Amino acid sequence: MLILGIETSCDDTAAAVVEDGRRVLSSVVQDQDDLHGPFGGVVPEIASRRHLEVIGPVVRRALESSRTSLGEIDLISVTAGPGLIGSLLVGLSYAKGLCYATGLPLVPVDHIQGHLMTLDLAGGTPLPSVFLVSSGGHTTLYHMEGDDPPIVLGTTLDDAAGEALDKAAKMLGLGYPGGPAMEKAASGGDPAALGFPRPLSGQDTLDFSFSGLKTSLFTWLKREGYFDQTTTGRRLPLAIADIAASYQMAVVDILLERCLAALRHTGSTKLVVVGGVARNALLRRRAAAAAVEEGFEVHFPPPRLCTDNAAMIAALGFRERKRALTDPLEINAYSTKALKSGTAPLADHRTGGPAARSARKPGGHH
Ligand code: KG4
Ligand code: ZN
Repeated sequence: MLILGIETSCDDTAAAVVEDGRRVLSSVVQDQDDLHGPFGGVVPEIASRRHLEVIGPVVRRALESSRTSLGEIDLISVTAGPGLIGSLLVGLSYAKGLCYATGLPLVPVDHIQGHLMTLDLAGGTPLPSVFLVSSGGHTTLYHMEGDDPPIVLGTTLDDAAGEALDKAAKMLGLGYPGGPAMEKAASGGDPAALGFPRPLSGQDTLDFSFSGLKTSLFTWLKREGYFDQTTTGRRLPLAIADIAASYQMAVVDILLERCLAALRHTGSTKLVVVGGVARNALLRRRAAAAAVEEGFEVHFPPPRLCTDNAAMIAALGFRERKRALTDPLEINAYSTKALKSGTAPLADHRTGGPAARSARKPGGHH
């Protein structure tokens, strides 16, 4: 079965052709870093305009490089949410148009679920597992087994890990996206040079918090006169490499501490780390070391599949092919919540859904 995946939830325009939910025949991702870089973050209006300009050529390139024609495609899978509503609407409307013109069925899928199932494209998704989705917009721990919907174990109370890295890079003038920029800047730096806080560390929770970390960098830079152009200017008592390395270490510490707690809490012996931040080499190295030390398995998708792409959307479309709609013109995008008819919302044990009963936070008082 050949599936064309389309993804435009944020600032990447992506299309891919995937066979039987496993074999990537093509995966085209056109980023917009040149447009958003000067702003140090994604400007939603600009993002949707660029999606509109490039969606046609990106889909055509995906078909061409897979050596497939639209006539050979069996199903179209598209991200319906969550994300920036203007961006989502471009991909969704384009997919609906294609389906209307060709008569192909359309399956609208959830972007986060797409990240969760990325390993379908790299040898298979191990289940049951604890999953960490860590990206620019999300930092959430899930537990998933069998075909049951994933259960939320914990999530960020404020910023996402990727956002914390993006904002820090912006403060330090390192460019956008901040995660890779911080990783590069941190190379050779001393991760113990600055004692950044690890919010919620040691507490009985599987939630995350990153805003205090971001604020502590801002406060330190301010105290050192970094923002004061007239006096000390941009001279700092530490090299940018030391600051970036210390900050990166704090982000990785926070993520790993909570992953280990989630493994203990669920009794799971498998951890899957996905989303843009899963590209980070320090996180990969430290997670691999912890896995050996604590006796669990850790799985990361190949780096190019960690950041947003349409191959994961096509793979999820294959899993969810029974939900495909033959008359999809009525479906709509959603920025935060799930489609009413269509993608099942990810179960959240805090909303008391039926899947919730098996999930407990540390302390076991649920
Ligand atoms: O999954 P993704 O492409 O988009 C969202 O769904 O948000 O993730 C993008 C995020 C950005 O915050 C970016 O800075 C971060 O992933 N990121 C990284 C690295 N590459 C991308 N963070 C740390 N290290 C990296 N190498
Ligand atoms: Zn994403």
